[in-house]
Amino acid sequence: MTRKFSGDTLLVATHNKGKLEEMAHLLEPFGVKVVGAGDMDLPEPEETEDTFVGNARIKAHAAAKATGLPALSDDSGITIDGLNGAPGVYTADWAETGNGRDFMMAMTRAHDELVACDAAKPWMAQFRCTLVLAWPDGHDEVFEGVAPGHLVWPIRGKDGFGYDPMFVPEGHDVTFAEMDRWEKNKISHRGKAVEQFVAGCFG
Ligand code: IMP
Repeated sequence: MTRKFSGDTLLVATHNKGKLEEMAHLLEPFGVKVVGAGDMDLPEPEETEDTFVGNARIKAHAAAKATGLPALSDDSGITIDGLNGAPGVYTADWAETGNGRDFMMAMTRAHDELVACDAAKPWMAQFRCTLVLAWPDGHDEVFEGVAPGHLVWPIRGKDGFGYDPMFVPEGHDVTFAEMDRWEKNKISHRGKAVEQFVAGCFG
């Protein structure tokens, strides 16, 4: 039996503004306000695991322990078939410049590696999201969502964040960055994982 979340404010263990905004939008209909790890001055723990769920657990438990509150983390990324699943858990790392994150650089790398290995088109890929809700007593619940699609070049669209401008979700011909937030959240990996979270932990 899934442990229920009670309360009207949820601590989301992320410093990523894009994720936080989407989470706030997704949870608004359930009367839940979100507060980010940055708002509570929580440090960003090192993500030392090689799975999405492992890293999501690290972030959620660190935040729950530091605050004494239930904390929800999101570990997500993109897996590209033609690159044997890369960048996967290293999706954010591909954008690391040493002085912040540059997603144009990360998308260019994905494109260049696909071209270099002569990957067959369409370039199939999946956005993946693992959510972990952790309580201060060490209990946790895990929820997962996947959005299948393909990659396009050149990139298109100005909305969203991260790799959104190069990802066209299955059944659509526009990228996530060409959709408004409402449209993206209905079909995204994060939207699907939040659906599971709400079904399991609310009501
Ligand atoms: P992490 O979960 O903090 O390790 O970072 C995951 C990375 O995946 C983010 O920095 C984004 O670049 C990328 N990502 C995750 N979800 C999305 C999304 O919905 N759109 C675009 N990029 C995403």
